[in-house]
Amino acid sequence: MAVLVTGGAGFIGSHTTVELLNSGREVVIIDDFSNSSPKTLDAIRKITGKDFKFYKMNYLDRKMLEKIFEENKIDAVMNFAGYKAVGESTQKPIEYYINNVSGALILLDTMRKYDVKKFVFSSSATVYGDPQVIPITEDCKTGGTTNPYGTTKLYIEQILKDIYASDKTWDIAILRYFNPVGAHESGLIGEEPKGRPNNLMPYIVRVAAGILDELSVFGNDYNTPDGTGVRDYIHVVDLAKGHIKALEKLDNEQTGLYIYNLGTGIGYSVLDMIKSFERATGKHVKYKIVERRPGDIAMCYADPKKAKEELGWTAEKSIHDMCKDSWNYIEKQIIL
Ligand code: UD1
Repeated sequence: MAVLVTGGAGFIGSHTTVELLNSGREVVIIDDFSNSSPKTLDAIRKITGKDFKFYKMNYLDRKMLEKIFEENKIDAVMNFAGYKAVGESTQKPIEYYINNVSGALILLDTMRKYDVKKFVFSSSATVYGDPQVIPITEDCKTGGTTNPYGTTKLYIEQILKDIYASDKTWDIAILRYFNPVGAHESGLIGEEPKGRPNNLMPYIVRVAAGILDELSVFGNDYNTPDGTGVRDYIHVVDLAKGHIKALEKLDNEQTGLYIYNLGTGIGYSVLDMIKSFERATGKHVKYKIVERRPGDIAMCYADPKKAKEELGWTAEKSIHDMCKDSWNYIEKQIIL
């Protein structure tokens, strides 16, 4: 029995595939390399010493998807094939809704056809919009997303709830990621955004590496301890391990629809991140304070208690590990 991983060559998909293989699972990956690279697949083999089946395809291709379900014994699906650039989503909403929402629907419809009903979905803390209560628990109100990317996550969550309500033999875990950063400690896989990064950590590492001149800190007048935005950064390897725990829950317990925050429960400001990065790497990060970025919120961090109690999962890696491993990855890419 194998786990089908869509987007398995991407940032979170590749780290999760490593953990799946390390936990003894068989994996089938599909990826169209629209935001990833074939070299990641070899890196996964190198890290784990294990192999997996791979299909180069877009998950909107229903015929190919059916072929995969015909050719392999799939018993669960993890979906990492979504587009995820917030800014781009405001420019290309149709592309985002087609790829993320239609893609998920085609995948779910194909799963139903082959009677595979275990599904782990990559959602995001973005579904909470501007949170009314902090730390954020899973039963906090969702909605009020500020961009099409976030809205695709919200819609897919609703679709999953409707599917489960219609047929209780589905077994679904919705994982709401906070801010994934870091990289595998081998430095062989990591985050490689195409073009100029939008997220904080990829920007910091590129400034430290001299690829970009200077970090713009978006606002220092928020209602936070130092005025800059506070987020719950989580090491991608911890996040990947959360997926294994979620899958174990689906395997071992009665069917259900489960929702978990995957975060550390600790908030760091932008200035905290810069300082932690400098301490962890010895590199200088040049920055300037600029205007707030539209759509940003002041503060967002998880209450991770539910995942601890029900999955036995807690994030273990520190902010130091996140910074060190992000840097290790980019350093290796520059040298290679
Ligand atoms: C963003 C998305 C969120 C998505 C997440 C993925 C928005 C509004 N939200 O979250 O939907 O799930 O990425 O990780 O875009 N910052 C700077 N300078 C920069 C970049 C960021 O000061 O060049 C600040 C931001 O203002 C924020 C913090 O760093 O306070 C984190 O930003 P970012 O990494 O983009 O993540 P989020 O905005 O939390």
